Amino acid sequence: MKIKDKPRSSYRMNAFSGLRLVLFSLAAIFVGCNNSSGEVQKVNSPDGNIQLTFRVDNDTAYYSVSRQGIQIVEKSKLGFVLDEAPALNSGFEVENVETRSFSETWEQPWGEKQEILNNYNELLVHLSEKDGVKRRLDVVFRVFDDGVGFRYIFPEQENLKDFRIMDELTEFNLIGDYEAWWQPAYRPDRYEYLFNKNRLSEVTDTMHTPLTMQASDSLYLSIHEAALTDYASMTLFQDRGHSLKCDLVPWADGVKVYAEAPFSTPWRTIQVADKPGDLITSYLILNLNEPNQLEDVSWIKPAKYVGIWWEMHLNKSTWGEGPNHGATTGNVKKYIDFASENNIDGVLVEGWNLGWNTEWWKDGTGFDFTTPYPDFDIREVTDYAESKGVELVGHHETGGAVANYEAQMDSAYAFYEKYGVNYIKTGYVNPRGMNSKEWHHGQFGVRHYRKSIETAAKHHIMLDIHEPVKATGIRRTYPNAMTREGSRGMEFNAWGPNGGNPPEHETILPFTRLLGGPMDFTPGIFDIALTDMPNNQVNTTFAKQLALYVVIYSPLQMAADLPENYVDQPAFQFIREVPVDWEVTKVLNGEIGEYITIARKDRNSENWYLGSITDEEGRDLTINLDFLDSKSSYKAVLYSDGAEAHFKSNPLDLKIEEKKVTSDMSLTLHLAPGGGQAVSFEKLQD
Ligand code: NOJ
Ligand code: CA
Repeated sequence: MKIKDKPRSSYRMNAFSGLRLVLFSLAAIFVGCNNSSGEVQKVNSPDGNIQLTFRVDNDTAYYSVSRQGIQIVEKSKLGFVLDEAPALNSGFEVENVETRSFSETWEQPWGEKQEILNNYNELLVHLSEKDGVKRRLDVVFRVFDDGVGFRYIFPEQENLKDFRIMDELTEFNLIGDYEAWWQPAYRPDRYEYLFNKNRLSEVTDTMHTPLTMQASDSLYLSIHEAALTDYASMTLFQDRGHSLKCDLVPWADGVKVYAEAPFSTPWRTIQVADKPGDLITSYLILNLNEPNQLEDVSWIKPAKYVGIWWEMHLNKSTWGEGPNHGATTGNVKKYIDFASENNIDGVLVEGWNLGWNTEWWKDGTGFDFTTPYPDFDIREVTDYAESKGVELVGHHETGGAVANYEAQMDSAYAFYEKYGVNYIKTGYVNPRGMNSKEWHHGQFGVRHYRKSIETAAKHHIMLDIHEPVKATGIRRTYPNAMTREGSRGMEFNAWGPNGGNPPEHETILPFTRLLGGPMDFTPGIFDIALTDMPNNQVNTTFAKQLALYVVIYSPLQMAADLPENYVDQPAFQFIREVPVDWEVTKVLNGEIGEYITIARKDRNSENWYLGSITDEEGRDLTINLDFLDSKSSYKAVLYSDGAEAHFKSNPLDLKIEEKKVTSDMSLTLHLAPGGGQAVSFEKLQD
């Protein structure tokens, strides 16, 4: 991958004693002193707005964060409880500290933005116990203009080799009783719940991250983690009002993490923004991941796909064998024809392999990943797909039976590779967890998903992971880990009790779940009434379904409806055209759970696309087109809610019109209750 600027980095090593002041350029970005309240180190963000303070007070390590001189996170504890060893949480002294500044611009091989600035000031604190066996623990902080990341490092040492973490004591003592959008942890359906909105002090449950909060009209925060590699996921619970404490998801035996020094934890991240949309264009989580480890990424390509999928969710066909089997050779060929005629890159095929005839969601040990059902001829299907220039998207549902999957993983990926299948969607449905006992988010699950990503990379396979562990930016290191579900997607509208996802759901996702990474939401339902499901209807207007292709970022984006529902639909033109790989992303407006408008520039042309969606309230939003090239004019095609549109009573009222526009113009987007608007901007030749 191309590094645009040479990374700039300056190192300093300071023996800790007395008052020190380290100067970088003209601004004081690192300050250390030893005062009455203990040993104190301060680091500023490159723009000077955010300040991180580290201190050892009464032999205990703490950090705090302020913005423009006002505290956001008060003195918060750091440390661990270990098994059969004294806790590593007090008796500390600072041995020395190292500071450095770093700046680079790196390029994503695919993504929502092509070039990413990674610019931070770093403080590395070497702690050791004053007494006893003098174990050592390092904490490294990186302070960016858009927030803070920190991680623990257990250095190689005599008195701490193999160990078991029973609790991570990290606190986030927020200064106020912020409003939070949260999903419960420790539930059978993993991340597939609606978001709640509460003051932190009202939350009596353990919460998943990203946990996004509003502190004031000009202060938004999100706590998450980056580079979750061989560790347990961090969840958060509220302790003493608005003090949050880390709660690591355990193994079935109660241990949180099995570790061996040298060892680093994931980064704990606190993103800070004036406007909620700035959380979306913060790349702090990606920046805290390791650079791409794959030498050749030319085979990794974003794609649009249709699939043998929605028809099963609508009970029109079955995953398992029988008279209505979905994944038959003939049916797949029909989808391939549709894809090739409509600029759709791929066709997903679910239910092609042995194992679906039993209650697989309770016990997936019957899945065989290399034996197709007799009515699915993989050679015929893949040859046909190739002749039509269409990719197949393979599928591995595991039913959570990870041991069964891992035993077959290498041969299962080799099998698909042999047939030229380069994309695989995986799935881990099982309310009792992995192998019927482990949480998807524990270290067990984290290790499994990593193994799948690494094995897939060896076989040149790109992954779309359903029922995944949360996204923490691993796509930077392994760009074949393209997208994942990890929240309530479209499927809940087909069969979800209580009417599926309410209109506000998609206006929360970009500010919460999507801060971790792309989501395979599967938009594009045109038969909104769900003719085959009398008790369900998608809570959307027609135009909103189109807008979701821009609002909910994913490098693999599904046109989820049945092909017959796209036939003779002028609105399908937007789905045919909309790119899945972007050079620039701009969030033009947004309030969490109310509305959001995003404009993105295609990576492979000069065209822009815009999506705007709202909750159950209708609204008119005026936006400036100043993101367009000021020297050109554009043909805008507007897909808008009609005057009478309403997500419940009149979802299909859609207006399509064309306009010539320039960057000095503005547009007023009319969004119906539960509605949206999609716009394509094609640059005209001068
Ligand atoms: C749940 C996934 O989210 C869905 O997309 C898939 O169809 C089913 N599991 C079956 O694998
Ligand atoms: Ca799912």
